[in-house]
Amino acid sequence: MARNKIALVGAGMIGGTLAHLAAMKEMGDVVLFDIAEGMPAGKALDLSQAAPVEGFDSRLKGTTDYADIAGADVVIVTAGIPRKPGMSRDDLLGINLKVMKAVGEGIKANCPDAFVICITNPLDAMVWALREFSGLPHNKVVGMAGVLDSARFRHFLADEFNVSVEDVTAFVLGGHGDTMVPVLEYSTVAGIPVPDLIKMGWSTQEKMDAIVQRTRSGGGEIVALLGNGSAYYAPATSAIQMAESYLKDKKRVLPCAAYLEGQYGVDGLYVGVPIVIGAGGVERIVEIELDEAAKAGFQVSVDAVEELLAACKALDSSLA
Ligand code: APR
Repeated sequence: MARNKIALVGAGMIGGTLAHLAAMKEMGDVVLFDIAEGMPAGKALDLSQAAPVEGFDSRLKGTTDYADIAGADVVIVTAGIPRKPGMSRDDLLGINLKVMKAVGEGIKANCPDAFVICITNPLDAMVWALREFSGLPHNKVVGMAGVLDSARFRHFLADEFNVSVEDVTAFVLGGHGDTMVPVLEYSTVAGIPVPDLIKMGWSTQEKMDAIVQRTRSGGGEIVALLGNGSAYYAPATSAIQMAESYLKDKKRVLPCAAYLEGQYGVDGLYVGVPIVIGAGGVERIVEIELDEAAKAGFQVSVDAVEELLAACKALDSSLA
């Protein structure tokens, strides 16, 4: 049986971390594609030289030629520019939209059967544009946002409750970051919902509100600290979890930016919702009953995504 092939389009900070994780986990052979000459080949060579020490047999290749991603089973897209301090994700729109066009066409021509995970920001708009440009089925193109947002949330909750991160689950909906909607009723420690933990005196509503706010601006906090670029370890780990669920048909239930066709009252947009990822790609969209507050928060996300799509259509008439 041939090994899986994982193509990473964009070999920058997240791309390099993705390659390292995919190789260490022996998820398959890895191709690092970038427009920068030399750099993807350099990273692939460096990582290949870690293989004898770590004992992994993934083959790694760096390239600037789309032909090398031919036949990829999974494509993870980070191509584009990241945020600099003071920039919002939306500021990236114009530049990264052009990048999505080139990448979408490259995927369409070389690996139209792949499962595609988009990480490039502004996420909810870029994943939609990438799907449009690639022409792949909607169930094979998803955006990585919710796994990262909920990981940030879980980290802060575990810290506050002083328990293992493994026992904390978090439920988030909506757009990436600033407009994400954490649903505390479905966020738990070992199955105990957060509102019950507040009643039990483990924390206070005020502290929870502060954690929600810190999670929403979690990406910005890291951008400000790094001073030059945005987060890459946790984003890469999150996308790898999604890729593994597809390649191993694990059917994980993960919050991702998925294409909605009527669910949650939304039609024709990518928004963050819980989905089941298995060998069929997006196998199910999990639609839960929302209370009024969550509904209102979700609508803010949807409105923000709609505005971004309108901006994309104004910039590129082929999307209109
Ligand atoms: N095709 C392929 N690669 C491209 C293209 C293109 N058209 N345009 C830019 N790139 C490459 C750059 O050369 C760079 O190596 O994309 C890479 C991006 O890497 P970084 O600048 O290190 O950015 P990174 O931190 O990896 O983030 C990438 O993910 O989270 C989002 O906001 C983030 O949009 C950004 C993306």
